[in-house]
Amino acid sequence: MALRTVMEKLGRDMQAVTGAISKEEWALVAELAPKIAKHAEPPLSEKMRILGWLGTDAGKFRDFDGHVHDAATAMGDAAKRGDGQAVITAFSKTQQSCLACHQSFRQSFVEQFYGKR
Ligand code: HEC
Repeated sequence: MALRTVMEKLGRDMQAVTGAISKEEWALVAELAPKIAKHAEPPLSEKMRILGWLGTDAGKFRDFDGHVHDAATAMGDAAKRGDGQAVITAFSKTQQSCLACHQSFRQSFVEQFYGKR
């Protein structure tokens, strides 16, 4: 599934943000944050498959993605201000949004589309 490639990129970008925070490289955080907020999406055909599987949970799934978008956007804004504390708060919110979606959907997604855990 193309979603996995999207997720792997999100994982790498989040790791890069961690490294940038440690070095107080706010310009780099400001550059990475929009890549997380406006990450790539799977092709339409895959999206339709996923939405079909989600059914009535589609809104919940979208909301989690929206939380990632908002938190990562706030992180980018904080980085532009050079506000390290706010960057870290927003980073934590971003990570919590990743986790929330994973806890709700990851295992069942993998079982559905890969037939294993
Ligand atoms: C709207 C739901 C949702 C959100 C939000 C989300 N993920 Fe995921 N993520 C998934 C699903 C579903 C999978 C399982 C995909 C698969 O295994 O093909 C996954 C899998 C992953 C994986 C494992 C990929 C692999 O190779 O097995 C990584 C890494 C990951 N996500 C990173 C992130 C990061 C970082 C964020 C936040 C910035 C995030 N995800 C936000 C749904 C989400």
